[in-house]
Amino acid sequence: MEVFSDKEQITRVIDAFKAQQLTIGFVPTMGALHDGHLALVEKALENNDKVFVSVFVNPTQFNNLDDLKKYPRTLEKDIMLLETISKDILVFAPSVDVIYEGKTVSQNFNFDGLEHEMEGKFRPGHFNGVGTVVKRLFEIVKADNAYFGEKDFQQLQIIKKLVKNYSIPVNVIGCEIHREKNGLAMSSRNTRLTEIEKLEAPFIYKTLKTAKKFFGTKSADWVSKWVEKQFESNEVLKLEYFIIADIDSLKQIKKKSKNKKYRAFIAVYAGDIRLIDNIALN
Ligand code: PAJ
Repeated sequence: MEVFSDKEQITRVIDAFKAQQLTIGFVPTMGALHDGHLALVEKALENNDKVFVSVFVNPTQFNNLDDLKKYPRTLEKDIMLLETISKDILVFAPSVDVIYEGKTVSQNFNFDGLEHEMEGKFRPGHFNGVGTVVKRLFEIVKADNAYFGEKDFQQLQIIKKLVKNYSIPVNVIGCEIHREKNGLAMSSRNTRLTEIEKLEAPFIYKTLKTAKKFFGTKSADWVSKWVEKQFESNEVLKLEYFIIADIDSLKQIKKKSKNKKYRAFIAVYAGDIRLIDNIALN
């Protein structure tokens, strides 16, 4: 398994692949890999000649310093996990300096309003940080196809907008959410849950599934109020938001319209750990 930390080295390898007209798949991650990440890597391996996985905990997308400090960093284990799938995967694990060249700040983006909804409201500056790092990573790893999870659906839509606005020559491919057997969406942050929180966390997806059923016959407002009520009586999980939104604008809907697609989005705290999830409604 080849692991790069240096920009010049990886650029040489990528340019050589490009010269041979090999297709490049790319999976950007912040490490602490789990089966959700690995599913993206598998998909990339199926559809490209060469696959790069980046592992970089991006400081500018954390609006909470404590969350950044506590974010799990397990590079050795990540490499071992990737090796179990294929020894041909190329890993890019740069330092903050390689990515930010001494200026660890975000660029300001306009994602046509997508950045102001949901996560944008509760995590100010988050999507500027994501946009900055992904744009930079796309400049270094000149991929044909890049894979992102629907677990972070808003991020996926924002990356699509980034690529369009900056005419970056890469196909952005969305991949479905990977879950534990109990329904909890896989996340690097799950490793920090206490035993009690682990037992309670599947309640998030259970509630989303029931909300989906209700959405067939009830209004968005009714469903939202119902979800809020479910969490009122939960002593372990604290609801931050539940929103039913149009998948293109990500704006909260007031009235259903026949030819639109909707998703329900949720953010919940278990102690100081923030969990997000979402579900397609139609
Ligand atoms: P990270 O949280 O490590 O996630 C990396 C990729 O894996 C993202 O595209 C995310 O949506 C996807 N992913 C995570 N959990 C998943 C699950 N349970 N099912 C399916 N896909 C899942 O997202 C980031 O890192 C960062 O913001 C990044 C894009 C790397 C920029 O720093």
